[in-house]
Amino acid sequence: AAAGAVVLRSHGSSVAAPAPAATQATLGELPPESATTVVHDFTYVAAERPNALPCFGGRTAPIWTLSAETPLPVIRIRRGDTIAAHLRNDLKGQDVTIHWHGLRIPNREDGVPNLTQAPVPFGASFDYRFRPPDAGTFFFHTHCNTAEQLGRGLMGVLIVEGDESRPFDDEHILVLRDWSIDENGRFLPFVTNEAARSGTFGNIRSTNNEIAPTYDVPAGADIRLRILNVDRTRIMMAGIEGAEAFVIAIDGNAVEPFPLKTWQMGPAMRIDVAMRSPADGKVARLVDYFAPEPVPLAHFAAHGADRRTGALAPAPLIASPIPVPDLDTAEKLPFTFSQATDNSVAPTGPADGRFIDDLCTSKTVYWAINKQSWPMGDHLHVPPPLATLTRGKSYVFELINVTPHMHPIHFHGHTWKVLKSNKRKHLPVHHADTVLLLPNERVQVAFVADNPGDWMFHCHIIEHQETGMMGYVRVT
Ligand code: C2O
Ligand code: CU
Repeated sequence: AAAGAVVLRSHGSSVAAPAPAATQATLGELPPESATTVVHDFTYVAAERPNALPCFGGRTAPIWTLSAETPLPVIRIRRGDTIAAHLRNDLKGQDVTIHWHGLRIPNREDGVPNLTQAPVPFGASFDYRFRPPDAGTFFFHTHCNTAEQLGRGLMGVLIVEGDESRPFDDEHILVLRDWSIDENGRFLPFVTNEAARSGTFGNIRSTNNEIAPTYDVPAGADIRLRILNVDRTRIMMAGIEGAEAFVIAIDGNAVEPFPLKTWQMGPAMRIDVAMRSPADGKVARLVDYFAPEPVPLAHFAAHGADRRTGALAPAPLIASPIPVPDLDTAEKLPFTFSQATDNSVAPTGPADGRFIDDLCTSKTVYWAINKQSWPMGDHLHVPPPLATLTRGKSYVFELINVTPHMHPIHFHGHTWKVLKSNKRKHLPVHHADTVLLLPNERVQVAFVADNPGDWMFHCHIIEHQETGMMGYVRVT
């Protein structure tokens, strides 16, 4: 690892010991929408918009985006505001939906084709309208043919303000993802037989669609970094070099701040970090320490006189009003994440090394949840739910990974309280919508099933999702 970084490894993961719990302020439930509610009314048109993104090195690639103004749309609202998003699909031959990842919103707005809405075909439209109940760092993405559509760019960032108990001096959003293009700007296959292992990695690593960009920041200042891993495959080990840093939120949810050594982030996972920028003329960096080589992802060049004195001691963010599960009465349900077994459709993919770009319409299955596989990226042939939960009751899900691979497991419509792992002793108790399971790890999460509907429950390595590691849970 690079100088200045503390990298501890055990099963590829390392976390700092959590700081002692202190009482943390909590946001209340939102009052009902009223005439004074701010409504953000906008239209996204999913379309092919060829672009020479800075990270493409002069090549132009036929990316798919939601906005004509920018390839990376950022919605920024205050908590309590309403989003009224009109989606139009101008992508020939594709269905599209928008899933608002990590948001506890009504099932009708969840954007899952064939489960919560009809997929939006070419030329058609769909209107989403909801009020995010929680402040924090979120994102949104297509939920159709996701390996390809996300691989080509169909996503954006959603920031809900209102969680800061003390203002920061500066803020940066850092969207981390790979792109997969050849010398001529043609997209490489999004899905290969690597789907049966860790998945297919891109060949260009980017931060806000640039390669390791440099941002000017005030010196000696408290800076909020909103770090999002929106890649479809890559698991990262994020750390800050050359500056002190604390984790202040995980998946948009406030945590009691703890020092950031490294934090392992699977696809869809986010952390918010409070960083004390270095002195004038010095540079701090965001680094992915994952083997084999540390990779710098962004640089922060400090300028001017120090803004702050004393050590960095970030104030806890104000926590979201996430219902508190009752662990005494909670029903415990095991979910085993495995390779596909005889109980599911046999793998029918081509031999190793061949591309299987048509995978989403094939019956290739490599993975299962509780021995049930739901293949096909278009979410057709909806199987029975993996479990049916009673609305209002508390549940503990035991997430059991019996594979030698890592899986970032995501649940829609609810926010989990992550209780414990059989492998990571110092996993801080925190809230999350996506939990990374290490090889052969068991993690317990708890939540109140308060949101009625059918909620997706899947691995966020999109190739794993689309080859069987996908299901849903019904709350009624
Ligand atoms: Cu971000 Cu169902 O996913
Ligand atoms: Cu997986």
